Amino acid sequence: MWILGIDTSCDDTGVGLVQDGRVVANQVASQTLLHQHYGGVVPELASREHVRVIDGLVEEVLRQAGLGVEKLDLVAATRGPGLIGALLVGFTYAKGLAFALRKPFVAVHHLEGHIYAALAEHPEVRPPFLALVASGGHTHLFEVPAWGVYRLLGATLDDAAGEAFDKSARLLGLGYPGGPEIERLAAQGDPARVPLSVPLQDQEGFSFSFSGLKTAVARALEKGHAPADIAARFQEVAVEHIAQVVGRAARKTGLTTLLVTGGVAQNQALRARLQGMGLRLCFPPRGLATDNGAMIALAAWHTLGRCSKSNLHLPAAPYLPL
Ligand code: KG4
Ligand code: ZN
Repeated sequence: MWILGIDTSCDDTGVGLVQDGRVVANQVASQTLLHQHYGGVVPELASREHVRVIDGLVEEVLRQAGLGVEKLDLVAATRGPGLIGALLVGFTYAKGLAFALRKPFVAVHHLEGHIYAALAEHPEVRPPFLALVASGGHTHLFEVPAWGVYRLLGATLDDAAGEAFDKSARLLGLGYPGGPEIERLAAQGDPARVPLSVPLQDQEGFSFSFSGLKTAVARALEKGHAPADIAARFQEVAVEHIAQVVGRAARKTGLTTLLVTGGVAQNQALRARLQGMGLRLCFPPRGLATDNGAMIALAAWHTLGRCSKSNLHLPAAPYLPL
């Protein structure tokens, strides 16, 4: 079964093709250069850029797979959450394509897409497990007791983890996205030289908080600490914070399998820290951690038995709980 998956939730146009649960092609058009002059994503520019590139990306993935469009069995797209104008482009395109081909259309939750990306190389994993989605827009820790059941244990009280990397990178004069830039600079720094404390160490729950860290980065810069040392300490503390919350959740729930997904899952320091916790870890394969279309097709494939095809009247949803 051939599934086309489309994600236009924010500033990346993602189109992927999955055959019987296996990723065959996955193309992402990044809008980083378009938005970088503005210091953040400009929603209207994002929508217009999705419109400009989406058809070409669909043609490209079909060409890579040597597949005629009429051979598609199903078209899936992100319904939400995200920027409404951006979401509407991929969502409406997918509906139109499904309608024209007389094939089913399936609406997918963006975070469910991230979760199935982490399962791509771990087909043996079954619930119950913990799932951490850490990206530029989300820091959500779920308990997944059964397929399709998501209990939110905790989320960020302020900035998302990736957002903290991005904002701190900007303060340090680095480029966007900030995660890889900070990771690179941190390798040259000494974290012990900068006093920055781990957020919410005494909490009983599973919340995250990153905005204080960003402020502490600004203060450390004012005090004259070297950017590489600040980057190293920022990363160490952000990773430690995530590890502490996840560790507490594992102890409290008794769960021993952890999925880590979203752009921040690419961070090697985070992976190394989590690896030492005695948990069974699942990370997305290369190219599937950050936003993409294949993860949407994967989610559609895995949830087909549970969710029927979506009605073409279903609206896109900028705020959509999982
Ligand atoms: O999943 P994603 O593409 O977008 C959202 O759904 O938001 O994640 C992008 C985020 C950015 O904030 C980026 O800085 C962060 O993931 N990121 C990283 C790394 N690579 C990407 N953060 C830390 N370390 C990395 N290596
Ligand atoms: Zn995402």
